[in-house]
Amino acid sequence: MDVYLDNAATSHPKPQPVIDAVLAALTVMNGNPGRSGHMRALGGARMLLKCRETLAALMNAPSGGHVVFCFNATDALNMAIKGSLRVGDHVVSTLMEHNSVLRVLKGLEVRGLIEVTLLSPDESGTVSDKKFERALRRNTALCISTHASNVTGAIQPVAAIGDCLSRHGVRYLIDGSQAIGHVPVDVSALKCALYAFPGHKGLLGPQGTGGLYIAPDTPLETFREGGTGSSSESMLQPADPPECYESGTVNLPGIAGLQAGAALVSEEGRKHWARERELTRMLYDGLSAMETVTLYSPAEDAARVGVVSFNLGDRMSTAVADALDQRGIAVRGGLHCAPGMHGWLRTLRRGTVRVSPSWQNTPEDIDYLLAVLRDMER
Ligand code: ALA
Repeated sequence: MDVYLDNAATSHPKPQPVIDAVLAALTVMNGNPGRSGHMRALGGARMLLKCRETLAALMNAPSGGHVVFCFNATDALNMAIKGSLRVGDHVVSTLMEHNSVLRVLKGLEVRGLIEVTLLSPDESGTVSDKKFERALRRNTALCISTHASNVTGAIQPVAAIGDCLSRHGVRYLIDGSQAIGHVPVDVSALKCALYAFPGHKGLLGPQGTGGLYIAPDTPLETFREGGTGSSSESMLQPADPPECYESGTVNLPGIAGLQAGAALVSEEGRKHWARERELTRMLYDGLSAMETVTLYSPAEDAARVGVVSFNLGDRMSTAVADALDQRGIAVRGGLHCAPGMHGWLRTLRRGTVRVSPSWQNTPEDIDYLLAVLRDMER
């Protein structure tokens, strides 16, 4: 058996149109976009434009010019956080965040540059808008929350938080790593200033891709400077987005694959999401019926994405994940780069077994996983 249930780490298998697009970018379209004026370079530039527009439409951003290409969600989060903050600023975020947020904030905090407040979730595994509101200070410059926890899958009240923060005029950054491509994302309705996302998870693109949505009137300091293919007479970084944030040669093969993946999500997303939800329900029900399973994810379908964390008896989660691997099932065990969340769940020692199905899985995959787990329980 070869059952892949680790889509929260990266989606697999990549659809054929994604593979074909990467290959085409490495062969027929292999030029450096925005630099030279020949046919291949122009073809590459058109591909970048098309991908920005596909992503903007998918997220309801005002235009493709508001989407910056990044190497992954971590890169986008670093760009958003470090580009937004000044010495003395206060940031409000949550214990639920991935290290791609926590380490950035803690690194700035220990150097005495910023102040950080990390909010803990309530028993539903979410942090409310009211809690964010109560934590605001005179010098709060940025609030950050994940859209959905990468450990439990719990969807956060991002619309309510966005609404509240926009009333207070505080910049809101959402980490969309586990949400985009799995639930509808409407950055305009969410009233967020910044939305960071990976290209290789729900958007089905290759690894090494991601992006940052930057709302109108959201100035960001550049995180890296260099060649942009524009204003080349100047030794100073140009100020025009999105290129001013994308110095150096972009990952054209990756972005071509991302364009194909994002186009597929635009066309088929709703169908995929319904299927993911059905499979996750089946998984959750099967796990809840097992005597020695401790579940950490919300029970209601609408409260989570396709991510379910659990432990089996008193075993280490990595031992369970390894045993599943021996039976041809790929899941993630251990700590999921989210120490605050594991502290809150009291799973810092043994981690959790995380199962993340996708629309490409079948009910037979879930049945097989449950049968193997039941076997291990005996
Ligand atoms: N951040 C990814 C995960 O949660 C890799 O597994």
